[in-house]
Amino acid sequence: MKGSFPIRVFKETRTPFYYYDTELLRKTLDTIRSEVGKYENFCVHYAVKANANHKLLTIIREAGLGADCVSGGEIEAALKAGFPSRKIVYAGVGKSDWEIALGLDNDIFCFNVESEPELEIINALAGEKGRTARVALRINPNVGAHTHANITTGLAENKFGIAMHDLERIISLAQHLEHVQLVGLHFHIGSQILDMGDFMALCNRINELQEQLYKQHIVVQHINVGGGLGVDYQHPNRQPVPDFAAYFATYHKHLKLFPGQTLHFELGRAVVCQCGSLITQVLYVKQGTHKQFAIVDAGMTDLIRPALYQAYHKIENITSEDSVETYDVVGPICESSDVFGKAIDLNRCRRGDLIAIRSAGAYGEIMASGYNCRKLPEGYLSEEMK
Ligand code: LLP
Repeated sequence: MKGSFPIRVFKETRTPFYYYDTELLRKTLDTIRSEVGKYENFCVHYAVKANANHKLLTIIREAGLGADCVSGGEIEAALKAGFPSRKIVYAGVGKSDWEIALGLDNDIFCFNVESEPELEIINALAGEKGRTARVALRINPNVGAHTHANITTGLAENKFGIAMHDLERIISLAQHLEHVQLVGLHFHIGSQILDMGDFMALCNRINELQEQLYKQHIVVQHINVGGGLGVDYQHPNRQPVPDFAAYFATYHKHLKLFPGQTLHFELGRAVVCQCGSLITQVLYVKQGTHKQFAIVDAGMTDLIRPALYQAYHKIENITSEDSVETYDVVGPICESSDVFGKAIDLNRCRRGDLIAIRSAGAYGEIMASGYNCRKLPEGYLSEEMK
């Protein structure tokens, strides 16, 4: 089954561009809201890194989510879209001074701190401003996730977070520093995770850690478990709204919170991935020696995931119902890795046909680059294209 698209308007629009189905986005946000609403102490932040398109951010903010940012630029984008600063969390292994200052000036909810020297710098900068920074320590839980090697983050070998064995020392440092207040513990094990067992493993690790800290009379106000819930790239229409019920229920069932503790989530991909498609046009069909190529006008500069992670995205010819043929779908960039898919079955392609590259709402538009002096793709909402 193909997705449904407003072909007539597409034909009048310069390609390539991102198309966002806001009906699906709103349905996704409604589902999140109703599932989270079952648990009084759960709080969801949208991971802005997945897609910072201003129009999408505005819809997500209207649905009541907070924002999870990883740079000063993302904090600015979140504030511009109207996210209250007290709903902004800020993570990242390399926060620069101006970025920390921006967070302090806006009195954001929390800095997720990834190292001892960072904690000291935040303390010093907060001191200069006569402020106290709320901080959570990002802990590397050494829990693997069954996902692509480039997007696991919770293993000891990764650069993220504070190692478990350094934790007690850094907690005691945080307690002694005058301008930071330790309010939380932060974790994130990776992205595109579909096996609830991985999240259960994280819950178990957090439970052990909380027990250990409790013995030393340390109980923080909140636990932040990061994001990571995956989507079905193979079948974008099968379950376009990810299984948030199972996801939140897993945490509810397996994570032991102390009375009064809140649980924070940072979901990116699961919120925006399925609502977005990259729409491109067939420029040429070229016969190679052993195969044929559909050369399209989008390239790895518009959507880098296939080139960077060998990621699969479903590709559809949305303007042809002709018999199916097999193509390598490639872009115009001067790189051999500029390939969206090899041996893809598509309804027969002709010059001018429109191609949809599905499940591209997350880590698509935001990772676009100007390599080859290409223009950045526009992003349009379905409600603008009627
Ligand atoms: N929180 C932290 C600390 C993170 O590092 C990430 C993603 C998230 C939350 C959101 O994770 P999500 O819910 O979206 O899985 N560019 C890659 C994905 C990189 C993810 C980086 N961190 C891709 O295209 O697959």
